[in-house]
Amino acid sequence: MTSDQYPHLRRLRRNATLRDMLNENRLAASEFIYPMFVVNGSGVRTPIEPMPGIDQISLDIAVEEAQRAMEAGVKSVLLFGIPDEKDATGSGASSPDEAVQRAVQAIKKASPETYVITDVCLCEYTDHGHCGIINGNDVDNDATLPLLAQTAVSHADAGADMVAPSAMMDGQVAAIRAGLNEAGFSDTPVMGYSAKYASAFYGPFRIAADSAPQFGDRRAYQMAPNQGREAMREVEADLDEGADIIMVKPALAYLDVIKEASMRFDTPLAAYNVSGEYSMIAAAGQAGWLDRERAMMEVLTSIKRAGADLIITYSAIEAAEIIAKG
Ligand code: PBG
Repeated sequence: MTSDQYPHLRRLRRNATLRDMLNENRLAASEFIYPMFVVNGSGVRTPIEPMPGIDQISLDIAVEEAQRAMEAGVKSVLLFGIPDEKDATGSGASSPDEAVQRAVQAIKKASPETYVITDVCLCEYTDHGHCGIINGNDVDNDATLPLLAQTAVSHADAGADMVAPSAMMDGQVAAIRAGLNEAGFSDTPVMGYSAKYASAFYGPFRIAADSAPQFGDRRAYQMAPNQGREAMREVEADLDEGADIIMVKPALAYLDVIKEASMRFDTPLAAYNVSGEYSMIAAAGQAGWLDRERAMMEVLTSIKRAGADLIITYSAIEAAEIIAKG
């Protein structure tokens, strides 16, 4: 074989300028969403052991964190609340005095430009740790819907810009849409956690949010990792119910699902780079087994390349700072 008989792909990789000119997928801080774990009280910053750099924070610190994110170019945050007390129906979830509702209010007041999204679920608020109310050994789908709708309305009342239901109850997007409309929030978009898998990669989150199920697991409502086509049905269902943005979660082990959803649907697509994905890289980085920053940027790039328009990531601020440095 002579050199004119094969394509010379290396010609376009010869120097950094050319590589930069031909970059197909550039990450931008504006597409990152930064999750925060909010607790009651003030001045609280409790490290989350498996997630170095991420803490449980009270609302005053959440305000500072939202401002730090904004300075880095990350304009959107996703709030999770951790209540002091839990009960069977997760009644704290829709309380106007709980950490999330108060944090939304405080962040919107201090930093009106910050786009505040709230996670709508009951698992942090139920004493059994499931995402809905229990009937026998099962999570009761239809009995849970009004509670999710109430929770979403309480977030919108507090000033949330967007709500994101993650309970994986059938009909949750429709119930929340109707609840919001009725309460006068017809302009508040819903981002559905459409294709959400029952994943081991939520482990660190459940430590962070103290939301591990106290019996059983979530396999009767979250999807099995084996399912690809079923994910498309979940996305379609959310779209039928009025979701404005769809989501695939987790991201890294489900890049094929992100890719397929991005090709099939024209609705904006979010991907959730979940806690376990963050912890793996943090741990391997601490052990000196890989270059943490490079691994982090590579994973985020892969999620973008798969077709995500928005990336929810605990690395948002750090990645944005790296992007800004060029
Ligand atoms: C609530 C919820 C979970 C996550 C987001 N919303 C946990 C779960 O379903 O068990 C996981 C996020 C992460 O791991 O970063 N249902």
